[in-house]
Amino acid sequence: MIGFLDSPVGGAVGRGQGDGVADAGPGPGQALAQGHGQIDLDVVRRLVSHLQPQDHQEAQELILAALQEINEHFGYVSLEAAEIVADHLGTTVNRVYGLLTFYADFRTEPRGRHFMLLCHGMSCYVMGSQQLVQDLHDRYDIADGETTADGELTLQVVNGCLGVCDRAPIVKLDDAFYGDLTTESLNEVIQRAIAARRAAEVGHGSDGAGTRSLPPSHP
Ligand code: FES
Repeated sequence: MIGFLDSPVGGAVGRGQGDGVADAGPGPGQALAQGHGQIDLDVVRRLVSHLQPQDHQEAQELILAALQEINEHFGYVSLEAAEIVADHLGTTVNRVYGLLTFYADFRTEPRGRHFMLLCHGMSCYVMGSQQLVQDLHDRYDIADGETTADGELTLQVVNGCLGVCDRAPIVKLDDAFYGDLTTESLNEVIQRAIAARRAAEVGHGSDGAGTRSLPPSHP
């Protein structure tokens, strides 16, 4: 197993299209701080206030920008936030929610304290990503898009390539990539992340509103 920190950047990907990396979410600090809280709608209004379309066409084009800003800030976009976007841009909630649920970048529910992208691209598939998915289901009772009952871990399976096929199978947990994984080493990565975060919280007397990056593992 290896761990490394260089992070390729992905763009918006339609659900089921399988042609890219679906990761436009917040860093781990944001996910932890905000993933379990209610979205502050005043903040949503501030985030979208600078988007001032000149006409209907431009308003339609700005929906994705608004959703991306909210998603990046809170880790997800609630229905209430989508309603604010629709109201601000003079469009319908159905239109906004349709885009929100089409793109895999966006979440409509809070993330867990840790967020994992599991690559299910061809190289990772050949090297055993399906076994990782199955093992996560068996150990943590989560499938693609789900969060563990204790709120620790959210799993997102991506059908595109995360760009480091020579280390397949790959996951990105919070802000670090891990490769050459087995079911056992993946579980170690997860447990180490949870333990490190809890230790940091105790050390800082935190209420869970902060975290730090996973140290990269060594072969
Ligand atoms: S297919 Fe998984 S990193 Fe390329």
